[in-house]
Amino acid sequence: MRTIDWVPADGPGPGHIRMVDQTRLPDTFAELRISTVDQLVDAIQRLSVRGAPALGVAGAMGVALAVQTLPTDEVRTAVDRLRAARPTAANLAVGVDLAWAQAQRGGGSAALDAALAMRDEDIAGCRAMAARGAELLSRLLPDRPRLRVLTICNTGALAAVEHGTALSVIERLHGEDRLDRALVCETRPLLQGARLTAWELSRMGARYELIVDSAAASIMAGGGVDAVLVGADRIAANGDTANKIGTFALALAAAHAGVPFLVVAPETTVDTATASGADIEIEDRGADEVRAFRGVPTAPADAPVRNPAFDVTPAALITAIVTDRRVVDLTAHQTPAGRSVNVGPSLNEEEA
Ligand code: MRU
Repeated sequence: MRTIDWVPADGPGPGHIRMVDQTRLPDTFAELRISTVDQLVDAIQRLSVRGAPALGVAGAMGVALAVQTLPTDEVRTAVDRLRAARPTAANLAVGVDLAWAQAQRGGGSAALDAALAMRDEDIAGCRAMAARGAELLSRLLPDRPRLRVLTICNTGALAAVEHGTALSVIERLHGEDRLDRALVCETRPLLQGARLTAWELSRMGARYELIVDSAAASIMAGGGVDAVLVGADRIAANGDTANKIGTFALALAAAHAGVPFLVVAPETTVDTATASGADIEIEDRGADEVRAFRGVPTAPADAPVRNPAFDVTPAALITAIVTDRRVVDLTAHQTPAGRSVNVGPSLNEEEA
């Protein structure tokens, strides 16, 4: 399955983006045809396309769309709108900036080439993360032939192009017959775990159990989890990691239970320009999606709501960050005052 791709035009003229409409899963598998920047911004904000790596590719393809479809004097504004469509995932701005730099040198076709290269790098990068993550788990847990791994949100193919990040590690364990089961947090309020991750695991034929988010801590404390694997939306220079709301709570519970907590994300999610988690902008998604789900009320219609879409897990609670190029071992960088690490190339790098 390709979650997102570029479809060239039949004849002369601009192509379009084809993407799975993730808002309709798991009941309906439908694809969207995105032909304008307005449609793309809407798809990003409604989470038809979501997950940091997929947002990066969407952003880059969106620049190609902007250059190919808009009058020259409207392109810059459209590119800026695209870049700001969601603030937390580093990859969206990375994808937009990369394609925009190429567009300024070589126009729409150069922007498209950059977007397609990003798509292909994402596919290869996810495979590399799967292998590296599975290998790291063998080293961390040598006595466990089959693992019970807990995850949150959706970090699978739906969050990237063809394979995912944390879920691709789980897929790899399943393929190697090393997965006892995945424990999938349903991920309130939009249920990316229940709707998307459970759907992907079912398609893989992997054993899993869906749990309500609040069950995770007690299952971990009871010895029911060997490792926690999560994705990331932005990793600051000191290793603090923004990911789906609830991730921080999982990290606290994992630390309490002595369970390894791994972040799996491409290098494009590492933002060395952001010093620490305190500097990461957290998207506020407003009240509606907490007061109701798909039009069915889940709270009084006027309930005051706070709805941060992400939280920040301090580096001190992360065992390691697995990227497409390296494993950053955060346990090796502990200082008495807390962690002081730089997720840069100099840090304990393990090249592919
Ligand atoms: O709001 P979402 O669904 O875009 O949030 C996605 C996540 O938090 C993922 O864990 C993260 O983007 C990594 S996806 C490989």
